[in-house]
Amino acid sequence: MTVKIPMGPTYDEMLNPNILDEHLKQKAHVALKDEFDPFNLFNITWRKQNGEINKVVLPKSLTGVEANIVVLLGKDFPSGSHKVGPAYATLIEGCVDGKIIPGHHTMLGPSTGNFGIGVSYICNLMKFDSIVIMPDNMSKERYQRIQQYGAKLDLTPGTESDVILTLERTFELKKNDNYHALAQFELFPNYRFHRHVTGHSAVEAVKGVGNERIACFASAPGSAGTLAAGDHIKTVFPESKVVALEPYECSTLMDGGRGQHRIEGIGDKMCTLIHNILTTDFIALVKDDDAVRGLKIFRDGEKIFQELALSKKQFEYLRDCFGVSGIGNILGAIKMAKYLKLGPHDNVVTVATDGFDRYDSVLEDLEKRYLETEDFVLRRWFKDIFIDIDTNHIKDVRSLKDKNYLFKQKEADWLKFDYEKSYLDAMQNPAFWEKEYQKVFVYNDLIKKRRGQKLDA
Ligand SMILES: Cc1ncc(COP(=O)(O)O)c(C=O)c1O
Repeated sequence: MTVKIPMGPTYDEMLNPNILDEHLKQKAHVALKDEFDPFNLFNITWRKQNGEINKVVLPKSLTGVEANIVVLLGKDFPSGSHKVGPAYATLIEGCVDGKIIPGHHTMLGPSTGNFGIGVSYICNLMKFDSIVIMPDNMSKERYQRIQQYGAKLDLTPGTESDVILTLERTFELKKNDNYHALAQFELFPNYRFHRHVTGHSAVEAVKGVGNERIACFASAPGSAGTLAAGDHIKTVFPESKVVALEPYECSTLMDGGRGQHRIEGIGDKMCTLIHNILTTDFIALVKDDDAVRGLKIFRDGEKIFQELALSKKQFEYLRDCFGVSGIGNILGAIKMAKYLKLGPHDNVVTVATDGFDRYDSVLEDLEKRYLETEDFVLRRWFKDIFIDIDTNHIKDVRSLKDKNYLFKQKEADWLKFDYEKSYLDAMQNPAFWEKEYQKVFVYNDLIKKRRGQKLDA
């Protein structure tokens, strides 16, 4: 059998699919009609069909702050979340490096859901077998999607906060040479995808909004891939503050807290290997049930939208745009806008990783937990959660002392997975991150040159 390098986009093509060759552009367009068409790989981008970045600037009556809260929308990526980007980037880099052999290797995807969905999806398109390793207590929609895309599930006990068990399981499984781990928490294609593709897209998203700069970028790390967009944002707007958001119930980066929480996709009880601690300025906490109740308001608070003089069209558009972590990110963005005392010309950018399509069961659960969710309750929640959000639980981590605390946390989390201390120490130097980023341009060339070629060509 002839083994070929799969066809797929470069980092630059994901940032701007308009630069694709005309025939690929056509095929990608046709592929939108069938999600299993492999040319959907060329639809991995933050852009809509009209070339604009998929974003929403939230109405100020909803956020209660003067600053513009700009949310990048991940729901229209193939497979329904932007996590497909890092999954694809990790797989294609492995292929062009010759470390992943199509037809030979089975992919492992340690995840709490969306990355697993992304791995399962791209492995389907790129014809790899895959196993998603994830906790057994995540929303049921996630398991359904993964199986629908064809991956096998290998479940470890627990929830979001038990992701370390999925890493331990992956560590064991990958001792088998036929398995290759698309290790989102530790491999740099995740960093490269977000610094390059998400970072540039964020900068473009504020064109025409406020002063067209980004005063603050707030994002809750799961793998901390998305946070890497902040590294690019800071090169364009050096005054920009990068904020890592965490669930109040699992405040690992802030103070080593390691509790259970309800925000799927974030708060994984660790400082991930690919988290660039040097560029994180603040850590801020958001209460998990505020994110879930906030989602309920966006889904069922039509009356509240009406009272805020927002149109039915706005309500109907926004109700599909966010999942729980997206609302958590919005709450964090509002909190930071207040804390940083930002004005009407300032922009805070955040990200909605996915949309509502995988959270019905989370709201069903909310209905069971609360006695009443009528309009009068939602109205009170809206005021408490959005309008009156406080600026407590924000930590400035710009000092050397705080950086050292986080470096130690990273060591505690990663030395046990056989990483050398010298490697972790090198991450304390900005040059380390620059070097990793510059590989984007090497892979741009390699991916373009090698796609569709025989492996040994
Ligand atoms: C729903 C959701 N939100 C947020 C994140 C965090 O994104 P990142 O892993 O880039 O930090 C994830 C990651 O899987 C996710 O699934």
